[in-house]
Amino acid sequence: MGRDVIVACDFASAKETLEFLDSFTDRKPFVKVGMELYYAEGPEIVRQLKARGHKIFLDLKLHDIPNTVKKAMSVLSKLDVDITNLHAAGTDAMMRAALEGLTRPDGTRPLLIAVTQLTSTDQISMERDLLIREPIEQVVMHYAQVAKGAGLDGVVCSPLEAERVHNVCGKSFLTVTPGVRFADGDKGDQKRVMTPAQAREIGSDYIVVGRPITAAADPVTAYQRCVNEFIG
Ligand code: C5P
Repeated sequence: MGRDVIVACDFASAKETLEFLDSFTDRKPFVKVGMELYYAEGPEIVRQLKARGHKIFLDLKLHDIPNTVKKAMSVLSKLDVDITNLHAAGTDAMMRAALEGLTRPDGTRPLLIAVTQLTSTDQISMERDLLIREPIEQVVMHYAQVAKGAGLDGVVCSPLEAERVHNVCGKSFLTVTPGVRFADGDKGDQKRVMTPAQAREIGSDYIVVGRPITAAADPVTAYQRCVNEFIG
């Protein structure tokens, strides 16, 4: 899998999701299934999307004791998704257990990436609520290094952190970056944003794009524009 645009299918039902994707006839987008859709529809939505030929990033952000995460990942491994994730805050032991659980008997597994610090967390809330006093960027880089040490394939991070993650963890360590907006588009609630072209320049491996595509008057054209800017 190379560089790609992942469409965040933040819909509440399978019906809405499948109707939205029906209009993509030329190229089947790589899609992100998050908690809302997965909790509403269960594993069946993943099977349906796979049967239609989509690659899937299953964004469930697991975080629990190692044994529980290992067993949950073992269940998810049967779904044949392409990428899934967890919280690096679950520690090295949890990430190693997750990898074990995710690895199928034949040795194959989906890519596993770690959420470092959510972009909704800032320096103030991190210090006040989590008692973490280091600069947030240092915390993100540290989590990325721990994830790499545990054998994970990459991290979800802000596009502004992707270049530094590559410098610290190596070019082959994947950076999956949300917070993408067109230069002439609405930022919505995302504060630190980049265009698909900028994300390409700083070396993001995957961009996760939601509303600039899902809320566009013509989602297929918006998706194609993202692909042209990011992949070329
Ligand atoms: O609509 P928008 O392009 O902002 O959607 C971005 C997607 O990426 C959403 O599904 C959002 O939950 C997800 N995401 C994010 N920031 C993170 C992690 C995930 O925006 N740090």
